[in-house]
Amino acid sequence: MRLEGKIALITGAARGIGFAFAQRYVAEGARVIIADINFEGAQVAASKLGEAAFAVELDVTDQQSIHAAIDKAVEKCGHIDVLINNAAIFTAAELQNIKRDDYASVFDVNVSGVLFMMQAVSKHMIETKTKGRIINMASQAGRRGEALVAVYCASKAAVISLTQSAGLSLIKHGINVNAISPGVVDGEHWDGVDQYFSQLEKKEVGQKKAEVGEAVPYGRIGIAEDLTGMAVFLASDDADYVVAQTYNVDGGQWMS
Ligand SMILES: NC(=O)c1ccc[n+]([C@@H]2O[C@H](COP(=O)([O-])OP(=O)(O)OC[C@H]3O[C@@H](n4cnc5c(N)ncnc54)[C@H](O)[C@@H]3O)[C@@H](O)[C@H]2O)c1
Repeated sequence: MRLEGKIALITGAARGIGFAFAQRYVAEGARVIIADINFEGAQVAASKLGEAAFAVELDVTDQQSIHAAIDKAVEKCGHIDVLINNAAIFTAAELQNIKRDDYASVFDVNVSGVLFMMQAVSKHMIETKTKGRIINMASQAGRRGEALVAVYCASKAAVISLTQSAGLSLIKHGINVNAISPGVVDGEHWDGVDQYFSQLEKKEVGQKKAEVGEAVPYGRIGIAEDLTGMAVFLASDDADYVVAQTYNVDGGQWMS
């Protein structure tokens, strides 16, 4: 077991990729804090993982909620070794139709959420002299723009940039910050993305998802479990010399 005794706080872990990370971390010996704005979902998710997991309510856009969630995690577990900034939201629209409110919401969760979670958790790691790990969820969408996805793409490019800056800032404290950049991963998130595209590109529901899945060099759409090995590696001692990087785990979609 590669994460024996580690304490990991995973944002947005009530479902999808975050939940797969939680499941794999528990299997690797970690205790996980499932932190999600959907508290009921987080409680259900934690109950599936037994005593090694517990749920906290967290809205990454709300500073008080961030501090309350970290306090609860520390009260229960003593400290935090690993933070995975996984929570995110998606929007898509023609450039002319992008609404300022949608832009603000996406940046609030996907960018400010990542920054202020890193700030709050790293302060705590420094105070407790924890050689911590922070893993941010980027996306292939952050590697290049997409005509209908300007806001989400820009938010994920910002995550890559924040990972670099935070990585350089925090390594002197023994805290490694890195990111994972997935391609297309099946699940409720992509069902939502598919809905957007069915309206914007006048496609049948499910058609866009099938098309992007077929285009992946590996030969199929990703599943959440495709990403868990990288999340374990980045939290493990093997990644000690890995700093400020973003790793593509996308079946060959993007090379950088
Ligand atoms: N699924 C994909 O194809 C894909 C591809 C590239 C990158 N990603 C990234 O991977 C991560 C996980 O994706 P997913 O597919 O599991 O997404 P998802 O939509 O299934 O899950 C996101 C979770 O975040 C939570 N959340 C939303 N707003 C929140 C807030 N303000 N505070 C706390 N929690 C909040 C939701 O309740 C949900 O449980 C995201 O960062 C996403 O951008 C996903």
